[in-house]
Amino acid sequence: MAVVVSSNGNAPAFEAKLTVYVFICVVIAAFGGLIFGYDIGISGGVTAMDDFLKEFFPAVWERKKHAHENNYCKYDNQFLQLFTSSLYLAALVASFFASAVCSKLGRKPTMQFASIFFLIGVGLTAGAVNLIMLIFGRILLGFGVGFGNQAVPLFLSEIAPAQLRGGLNIVFQLMVTIGILIANLVNYFTATVHPYGWRIALGGAAIPAVILLFGSLIICETPTSLIERNKNEEGKEALRKIRGVEDINEEYESIVHACEISNQVKDPFRKLLKPASRPPFIIGMLLQLFQQFTGINAIMFYAPVLFQTVGFGSDAALLSAVITGTINVLSTFVGIYLVDKTGRRFLLLQSSVHMLICQLIIGIILAKDLGTTGTLGKPQALVVVIFVCVYVMGFAWSWGPLGWLIPSETFPLETRSAGFAVAVSCNMFFTFVIAQAFLSMLCGMRSGIFFFFSAWIVVMGLFAMFFIPETKGVAIDDMRESVWKPHWFWKRYMLDEDDVEKRN
Ligand code: BGC
Repeated sequence: MAVVVSSNGNAPAFEAKLTVYVFICVVIAAFGGLIFGYDIGISGGVTAMDDFLKEFFPAVWERKKHAHENNYCKYDNQFLQLFTSSLYLAALVASFFASAVCSKLGRKPTMQFASIFFLIGVGLTAGAVNLIMLIFGRILLGFGVGFGNQAVPLFLSEIAPAQLRGGLNIVFQLMVTIGILIANLVNYFTATVHPYGWRIALGGAAIPAVILLFGSLIICETPTSLIERNKNEEGKEALRKIRGVEDINEEYESIVHACEISNQVKDPFRKLLKPASRPPFIIGMLLQLFQQFTGINAIMFYAPVLFQTVGFGSDAALLSAVITGTINVLSTFVGIYLVDKTGRRFLLLQSSVHMLICQLIIGIILAKDLGTTGTLGKPQALVVVIFVCVYVMGFAWSWGPLGWLIPSETFPLETRSAGFAVAVSCNMFFTFVIAQAFLSMLCGMRSGIFFFFSAWIVVMGLFAMFFIPETKGVAIDDMRESVWKPHWFWKRYMLDEDDVEKRN
C-alpha cells in the first residue's frame, strides 16, 4: 500500500489549492476520529450511572452504595472493565484486516465498513438487554475504530495538499478530543435522565456514524489508492478534481513512481524487521506504550469515576470531566501551532517534566489526605482537579498528537503504511491494557497508581532525550541521511544491509 507524501517535508512540492471539495472530504473523514473520541469519552460516564450499573453490574452497584467501605475499590470489577476495554481488543484485531481492505479495496470502502460496524455496534449497545449484547456491541464498535483509524489518517494525508499535511495530521487528533468532549457533555446531561439516560448516551454515537456513512458516499477515493490498484485514469481524474488546478502531471507522475517502488516490496511487514527499519519501528511502537502509560486514558475513560472516587458527587464528577475535555481540545491547538516551530523533542521533553510534576502532586495529596474510606476535603479536591487539568494540557500538545504524527513521518515510503498499521495496533493494545487494568490497579495500589505513572513518565522522558531525534523540517524521504545516519545510537543500523548481515 503506498502513501505518497511530498518529497520535501516542508515545501509545497506541487501546485494545489485547498478546494472546497477537499475541505468537505477532510471534515467528513475526520468524523471517524470524532467517533473514536466519543467512544473513549462515553464509557466513563455511563459506568458511573446508577441505572446502568443496576441493570448490568448489580454487584458493583451494591458495592457503590456502601462505598464508605473502600474508596479505591468500589468500581473494581473485571466485567465492568471489559465493557470499556473490549472495544480496544477488537480494534487491535480489526486493524490488521483493515490494513488489507484498505489496500485491496481502497480507503473509501474501508471508511464505509467502519461506519456500518459503528451503526450496528451503537444499536446493540444502546438497545442492550443483557451483558452479552452489550459487550458484543462494544466489539463491533471496536471493529469500527480499527477500520476507521487505519483509513482516516491515510486518507487525510493522501488527499491533503502537501503543504498542509502536517497540520491535517493533527486535525485527526483534534477531532478525537472533540469527540471526547462531546461525550463528556452528553454524559453530563443524560446522567439526570432516568432510567434510560445511558441508552441515549450510547446511542448518541449514531449521529456521527450516520454522517460518516452518508458522507463517505460523496467523498472521492484517493488518487494514490486508485493508481495503486492500476486504475490510473480514474486516479488522474480524482487528482485533478481535488487539486483544483489543471496541471497535475508532475504530482501524478510522482504518485505513479511511488506506487511502482512500493509495489516492488512484496512483503512490507517483512521489510519492517530488517535492521534499517529498526529505528522508526522501535520508536513507533514504544511511542504507543509511552503514550498510554502517561496514564492519560485512566483520566479519559474513568474521569467521572476517578473524581467520584476522590469524593466528588456524581454531578460534580461529570462536570469535572467536561472541564478536562474542554482543556484537552483547546490545548491541542497549542500542539498544532507549536509542533513545526519548537519541534517535536521540545514538546516531548517539556511535557514529560510538566506531567511528572502534576502526577506527583496528585499522588501526594491523595496519599496524605484521602484515607481509604474518607472523602477529600473541598480545597484538596479542587487542587486535584486543577492538576488533572494541567496534566491533560501537557499531554494534549505532546504525547497525544505526536504519538500519531511521528510514526506517520519517520518510515520510508515502502514501509510507511505497514509501519503505521503496526503502530495503530500497538496503540490499541496498550489502550486495552490500561482500560482493563486501571480500576484494579487503583484498588490495589491506591494513590500509588499516580507514582506508578510518574515512574513511566521519567522513563519516557529519558527515552525521548536520548533516542527520539528531531524530525522538524526534515524532508520526509530524507530521514535516513539527515536523522538516522548522524544519530549517536541509531547510526549502527544504518550501515549497508550487507554489512549488517555480516555483522549479525
Ligand atoms: C490517544 C487516546 C487518548 C486521546 C486523548 C489520543 O492521542 O491515542 O488514547 O484518549 O489522545 O485526547
